[in-house]
Amino acid sequence: MNFVSMKEFDREEILEILKRAEELENNPNQDLIKNKIAATLFFEPSTRTRLSFTSACFRIGAKVLGFDSPDATSLKKGESLRDTTKMINGYSDIIIMRHLRDGAAKFVGDVSDIPVINAGDGANEHPSQTLLDLYTIKKEFGTLDGLVTAFVGDLKYGRTVHSLSKALSKFKCKKFYFVAPDELQITKEILDELDEKGIEYELVKDYKEILKEVDVLYMTRIQKERFEEPELYEKLKNVYIISKETIVGKCKENMIILHPLPRVNEINIDLDETKHALYFKQAKNGVPVREAMIGIALDKLQLNYKEKAKNEIIKSEKPLCSNNNCITKFEETDNKIEIKNGKKYCYYCGREIK
Ligand code: CP
Repeated sequence: MNFVSMKEFDREEILEILKRAEELENNPNQDLIKNKIAATLFFEPSTRTRLSFTSACFRIGAKVLGFDSPDATSLKKGESLRDTTKMINGYSDIIIMRHLRDGAAKFVGDVSDIPVINAGDGANEHPSQTLLDLYTIKKEFGTLDGLVTAFVGDLKYGRTVHSLSKALSKFKCKKFYFVAPDELQITKEILDELDEKGIEYELVKDYKEILKEVDVLYMTRIQKERFEEPELYEKLKNVYIISKETIVGKCKENMIILHPLPRVNEINIDLDETKHALYFKQAKNGVPVREAMIGIALDKLQLNYKEKAKNEIIKSEKPLCSNNNCITKFEETDNKIEIKNGKKYCYYCGREIK
């Protein structure tokens, strides 16, 4: 099975994946996927995701091949992502991929004959990050229900926020706060999904106003590499900087600060030694969670996965998605469009099509 979007997993399935991760953390299994080969295809830079997937593979007995930059591959000669996928299918048993285009993982998932794990596709989704975020939250609070989560920073381009808000919305969330300047606020598509599920949320500009209510403060980096206008990045790059002075004594005693990392300057290092700072522990949790994902994807670990009801899909002659970074603008796809509640969405990147 593939891990492309958190949309594809319900509450019970998410809890079961986290359980498998916990079991592996408590009882390591070096033979789980012995003799299997994992391909880590990183078309975008990464420290944590690629290395923790590699570590996870080694810890469950798999061998790893791949690349950490497209510069030394035949993409440089103009090879398509479709053809690259077909080739890798002959060399490995699972694809773990990161790509700069929104919807690339969905496209590769459709083209590939072997399982695909999305390790981040543009500004779209990052499901393995979300599962380790949830694993960390559950370890701290013992539950994923009843929590107030504040997402802070770049909520427009932050794929970790997109996946985590989708996943948490399957639980009994008390409230979401989306804390961002107007230019970087959360997407309309995510708010549509929350409205559909009846999740309470509020868009705010100043985290200090809501800090006392928050259980999970999810900080994010302003994603310089995704801005179309460099001047806008310069204007917004320091919009939120939290520190001991702004947080300690001003939030709940047991509030946790998460961050997918890397950080730039949005969390002052003076917070690192406080009880609220969970981000390094969070990153370490990526290893058992990714072990579980690989084990499940290769059918070596159990997951009672239920096929979800499919929305109507239609095909278009040419790309209709208005997202300039959508994979449909860069690859020959079927230009699929998903129809949901009478609205049209790009099947690959999820952007609403007007
Ligand atoms: N959180 C995360 O995706 O980190 P990397 O970009 O270092 O993989």
